[in-house]
Amino acid sequence: MAKLFAQIRFIAGALALAFIVAVVTPVSAQQPSSVNPTASAVKEQQLLKELSKIQGRGTIPDVKSYVLEHPVGRDWRQWHEVTLRWIGGIAVLGMIALLVIFYLWRGMVKIEGGRSGRKIVRFTAFERFVHWMTASCFVILALSGLNITFGKPLLLPLLGPEAFTTWSELAKYAHNFLGFPFTIGVVLVFLIWLTGNIPNKVDMEWFKEGGGMVPHKHPPAGHFNGGQKLIYWIVVLGGGTSAVTGYLLLFPFYGTGISGMQVAEVVHATVGMLFIAAMLSHIYIGTIGMEGAVEAMGEGTVDINWAKQHHNLWLKDEMARIGPNESQRQPMATPAE
Ligand code: HEM
Repeated sequence: MAKLFAQIRFIAGALALAFIVAVVTPVSAQQPSSVNPTASAVKEQQLLKELSKIQGRGTIPDVKSYVLEHPVGRDWRQWHEVTLRWIGGIAVLGMIALLVIFYLWRGMVKIEGGRSGRKIVRFTAFERFVHWMTASCFVILALSGLNITFGKPLLLPLLGPEAFTTWSELAKYAHNFLGFPFTIGVVLVFLIWLTGNIPNKVDMEWFKEGGGMVPHKHPPAGHFNGGQKLIYWIVVLGGGTSAVTGYLLLFPFYGTGISGMQVAEVVHATVGMLFIAAMLSHIYIGTIGMEGAVEAMGEGTVDINWAKQHHNLWLKDEMARIGPNESQRQPMATPAE
């Protein structure tokens, strides 16, 4: 009897096993392609959370390349693709909008009483060379940097993939190589104009009086007024910070690791955007914002009436240094043609 029960148990067990196999096998056999991508993403998320990175194995000596995913990388992508674009857009477009409104309100600041016909030397050839070398590198660095941030969403759809690739490659080479002359320029700007750019009480007054922008008000100023001193320090500090962080990015893993480079990129890009906005105001004042300003950096001389209006203390010192008669002769002061 017991033997019979054992045989029945065995047959029932075999039947149950056959049933399970019959039910399960066709389902899995019929669905070889039904891999659930969400399920593996969940596993990936779990791995990322638990191990704080997903790392594979490799054969090349650079073990850093084995890391495939890192949560900080996602934060960085959010910063680069979203936050930075907002910062840059607001800073650059905001400054352009402000300048347009300001121009419509104030127009060009004219030389009151017109030109005198006499000129005085304001910047030497070397000073102008340093200015234009730094400025031209800056403009190319700014445009090529903006392309890294905004090129993909703004230019790629307009140019198409091939033209955008060619342009971006050229822009990237320019950005990498022009950093060197730009750095030399910033160091020279710092050295040659430092003594004229130490802030003092006259600058405070200059700011309080509206910086010469209020019609018929001409606050006293030396060689550089408060606004120009501000631009000088923005160039020195902004240029210095862009250079240091830029070199950390240009030579990866020499100065710092991945997280350090991410910090460097955040600082570099933020300073870059604010720097571009500040320089737009400088370019505005030097061109359409003020009559007679551009020639100071062009031919190196300014009209005496311009100097009286905008830099009266400097003009007084120069006149005392070169003598009133001398100021009517070349090379310190030249008659206008
Ligand atoms: C010595 C000077 C500089 C060096 C060595 C330098 C280097 C670099 C490097 C290596 C990158 C990263 C490029 C990449 O991700 O492929 C970069 C990005 C960038 N640079 Fe510069 N740079 C310098 C100056 C400047 C200046 C003066 C500006 C602005 C006026 C600027 C604006 C930018 C911007 C906006 C980006 C893009 C940031 C991003 O979207 O990630 N750079 N720079």
